[in-house]
Amino acid sequence: MIVAIDGPAGAGKSTVARALAERLGFRYLDTGAMYRALTWLAMREGTDLGNETALATIARSEPVTFDANDRVWIAGTDVTASIRKTDIDRMVPVVARHPAVREVMRERQRQLGREGDVVIEGRDIGTVVAPEAEVKVYLVADRDERAKRRMADRPGIGADALATDLKFRDESDAERMQPAEDAIEIDTTHLQVDDVVDRIEALVHERTAV
Ligand code: DC
Repeated sequence: MIVAIDGPAGAGKSTVARALAERLGFRYLDTGAMYRALTWLAMREGTDLGNETALATIARSEPVTFDANDRVWIAGTDVTASIRKTDIDRMVPVVARHPAVREVMRERQRQLGREGDVVIEGRDIGTVVAPEAEVKVYLVADRDERAKRRMADRPGIGADALATDLKFRDESDAERMQPAEDAIEIDTTHLQVDDVVDRIEALVHERTAV
């Protein structure tokens, strides 16, 4: 079974998807981490982030992998911590915007998603990567709440800069952020993580019962 969890930055996708996967004994696939890792490598190599062909070539030749502890690897380096820094937050939408990059990433995401039960988190999972997913959820939250959550994750950055970054990311991610028609929308603004996980788990059990 595939559970697709999409939604904007800060809506709670990672926390919820991880907890859900653990509860259900499913694998967890973080597709945002794949775009982040590619951005990290391209920046390290000094690649022009506007060069779609060069980026797609790197994406193809240096596939992102996840180890048994969900650590993220690219080009022989563990980038789990490096990809959560502010410079990556800012540049990843520039990389993720290129259709040729997305094509390589989506192909790989489909391969990784094919092996057994999995919770996949991203922006375009229910619409493009896995339209066949049995359960599709679209998480949303007020922008103020999302900014607050990001503050907790990025202690080094001020509230104003964070709000500006989030707005920029929302705008550049917007074209990929349409919920699937059959996705269930959950507003997490006033919910605890466990409540959101409970709701999605119930959807999974409903599907399993059918
Ligand atoms: O969810 P995140 O913040 O880790 O995502 C990082 C970036 O990657 C974000 O700008 C949107 C992009 N992304 C995407 O375009 N498609 C996905 N399936 C996942 C992430």
